Amino acid sequence: EIKFFFPRQDTLAMIKPDAVEEHKDEILEEIRRKGFSIKNYQETILSEEMAEEFYKEHKDKSFYSQLVQFICSGPCLQLVLSKENAVEDWRMVMGPTDPDKAKEIFPDSLRARFASDILHNAVHGSSSVEQADREIQLLFGDRSAEQVTSSEGENGG
Ligand code: PPS
Repeated sequence: EIKFFFPRQDTLAMIKPDAVEEHKDEILEEIRRKGFSIKNYQETILSEEMAEEFYKEHKDKSFYSQLVQFICSGPCLQLVLSKENAVEDWRMVMGPTDPDKAKEIFPDSLRARFASDILHNAVHGSSSVEQADREIQLLFGDRSAEQVTSSEGENGG
């Protein structure tokens, strides 16, 4: 029997302003169901300065200022999620960036269920382990290490 082991990782997830009010509970339920533990969380309205820094990897893209304005437009819930292979797995749970594509190829994904368009797409997830470290440090600083909940997911904790 061959077993594959993935390293335990942290990733930064956000429930964006378009989804916080109406879909927070369903998204948190999916997070637990998929076996992530929540190491830390906070609900804040990001400053424009913080949002620009957060999205700086996209600063040359045409939609950068829209993205920054939108993420600052209301409260968003930021979460440090932990599990094996967390970065890639969380992006799978979110589904494709564009909800039309998500509905087509991954109808159970969070963006297929809750996003309205490519900008108002309900959730964020770090694009790499390096970005995850940077985003967690930026938003949580030294408060990123404490364990808030343990996993209740079917894949164990
Ligand atoms: S990447 O390069 O894989 O990180 O790109 P992607 O994850 O697809 O997109 C990065 C973020 O940019 C947003 N995005 C857009 N916003 C507005 N208009 C357009 N066309 C557009 N394309 C991408 C997308 O929602 C991603 O936001 P986050 O918060 O990182 O999910």
